[in-house]
Amino acid sequence: MAIEPLIEIEAGQGPRSSGVTYQDLLDAETREVPEVLRMQAARETPVVRVPIDRYTSQEFHDLEVEKVWKKVWQFACREEQIPEPGDHTVYDIANLSILVLRDESGEIRAHHNVCLHRGRALKDFDGNSSDLRCPFHGWTWNLDGSLKEIPCRWDFPDVDQDDYALPPVKVALWGGFVFINLDPDCEPFENHIGDLGKHFERWPLEKRYTEAHVAKLLRCNWKVAQEAFMEAYHVVGTHPQILAGIGDANTQYDAWDTFSRAMTPNMTPSPHLTEEPTEQEMINSMLSVSLDEGPMFNVPEDMTARQMLGQMTRMQLQAQVPSVQELTDAELADSFYYTLFPNFHPWGAYNKIVYRFRPYKNKPNECIMEVLFLSPFRGRRPPAAKVKWIDFDAPWSDAIPEFGSLAKVFSQDAYNIPHVQKGLEAAQHTHVTFANYQETKIRHFHTLLEKYLQA
Ligand code: FES
Ligand SMILES: [Fe+2]
Repeated sequence: MAIEPLIEIEAGQGPRSSGVTYQDLLDAETREVPEVLRMQAARETPVVRVPIDRYTSQEFHDLEVEKVWKKVWQFACREEQIPEPGDHTVYDIANLSILVLRDESGEIRAHHNVCLHRGRALKDFDGNSSDLRCPFHGWTWNLDGSLKEIPCRWDFPDVDQDDYALPPVKVALWGGFVFINLDPDCEPFENHIGDLGKHFERWPLEKRYTEAHVAKLLRCNWKVAQEAFMEAYHVVGTHPQILAGIGDANTQYDAWDTFSRAMTPNMTPSPHLTEEPTEQEMINSMLSVSLDEGPMFNVPEDMTARQMLGQMTRMQLQAQVPSVQELTDAELADSFYYTLFPNFHPWGAYNKIVYRFRPYKNKPNECIMEVLFLSPFRGRRPPAAKVKWIDFDAPWSDAIPEFGSLAKVFSQDAYNIPHVQKGLEAAQHTHVTFANYQETKIRHFHTLLEKYLQA
């Protein structure tokens, strides 16, 4: 396929919103501010106009499968999804299927989920088994991928035992996540993850468990869905009810080699508002969408809403997070949303969210949006939540038991998304336009995507 090129425009250090900067807010902290929050990397990614067919065409989707999904390190599952030897989980990406499992020695491995006889998928579901037996004719492999048994072995004189080991898939572990790569000659995982680990040193994700995991089917390209969760620019249009307590346009955006982040301050008024809300109005607007719905709190005279939210979150976390008293109000009140190319979005500090977006089956116009809640715990690790699926036509509010009123916010986002796809498919113009600063993360993503396509 001839790839329609990106259009690059000179970016330079452009203007910023009125109001406080994120760094100004950090100056008001009473605790020591960690270095990662002080970093500023508004990389001068050239402003890109992205061809619309990258979101709509089957040909482009097929190219992404070849150039990205078959080549890139990607988050397959959490380690705690497969805690015992023999536990396995099926990770499907586009038309590819990978079996991630724990072998007898406790090591995590991955294999292509395909029988080497006539190609049936080896496992249809997650589960536990002492070996991998194909349900069709019963060819069986050991968990380490070596061939164990062929029924009527005499009938396959030309099948060499070693040649018929399951081809391995590369595995790497980070933060309690299992990453896989289908390319035997891929770059080392350490190159891909870069310095992301440094950012999460104070907020170790391996010390969390999966409290909830919901997968929602959406009628749009996976990038359309993902991009709706990579900026705060849409808050004024999509979630106006939270403007009193969110510095949406004061978000700081940064981009490093393979990952980017946004830091959106909460408990500071949106610069879009013409009237300054009170500290109490800020906390009220936030509490209606907080991750943990609690009773209403009154902001004391001598406190700001930001300090108050910090204090409240510190109290909620103190039983599980011993270091909580050292954490700044920013780490307890704000939204730090990271993106590791191509589709992994862990949130920083003690916000519980992790997103993943991927194509659904082999379609350019359908995708899976997943939200995991990773929670700290004390003592024995609680079992990981099973994935709950929400179908195309069922609402995000089906996840209120898991996510509380955050599920209502997702509903607002999910409402737009199929209409974006519809518009893109109907478009007579040729390119999508991104903001110079507030859509930094998306521009950075497309720059990386381009690199993979050109490789
Ligand atoms: S297809 Fe798997 S054993 Fe025949
Ligand atoms: Fe949103």
